[in-house]
Amino acid sequence: MSNIHILDHPLIHHKLSLIRNKDTETKLFRETVDELAALMAYEVTRDLPTKVVDVHTPIALTQGKVLAKEVVIVPILRAGLGMVAGIQNLIPTAKVGHIGLYRDEVTLEPHEYYLKVPPTIRDATVLLLDPMLATGGSVVAAIKALEKHGAKDIRFVGMVGCPEGVAKLHSFRPDIAIYLAALDQGLNEHSYIVPGLGDAGDRLYGTK
Ligand code: PRP
Ligand code: URA
Repeated sequence: MSNIHILDHPLIHHKLSLIRNKDTETKLFRETVDELAALMAYEVTRDLPTKVVDVHTPIALTQGKVLAKEVVIVPILRAGLGMVAGIQNLIPTAKVGHIGLYRDEVTLEPHEYYLKVPPTIRDATVLLLDPMLATGGSVVAAIKALEKHGAKDIRFVGMVGCPEGVAKLHSFRPDIAIYLAALDQGLNEHSYIVPGLGDAGDRLYGTK
């Protein structure tokens, strides 16, 4: 399937194994999600547009490249929050929007409870963050909300996905690039990813 990037790097595999492990405690889980997000950001931003600028070094005038477009990072609360700092450290000029969604445990439908994005989102490259792409309902709802606010250039950055979520996102917007550290086998009867890593929000924040 086009437009899906499963990132293949020894450090990404190593850190993913750590967060999959059920015995990894909250502190290490949180630190590792942060590191994994930073490693992924390097690949996710590989083709960002640049522009040429003059740079005065202490020795001479030369030309360099800088990012041509603003980057807006939008985590889907709660679990996407765990990915923000790692990416923000690499792109300190990025603005951060927030969208709050939770998945109803029975219907699995996403419910929006918060949204705040910068007005510059219209002209920015948006990195939409959520470690888990399960049914795909949350990501599709987030994209609809961001598009209502004018976002036009969105890429999705997850960690663990499955074919059901990829298919849903892909059939909604085939042009949106999907970046994952792993594409797992599928969903169980509770719509959790198998093998997955469990409930990402609960594991990040110690709520279970
Ligand atoms: C989890 C996860 C995603 C969503 C994925 O959040 O962080 O946002 O489920 O599932 P989907 O692809 O089937 O929509 P959850 O709804 O548990 O909310 P939380 O982050 O507040 O715990
Ligand atoms: N949300 C999670 O946090 N984990 C899953 O496996 C599915 C949805």
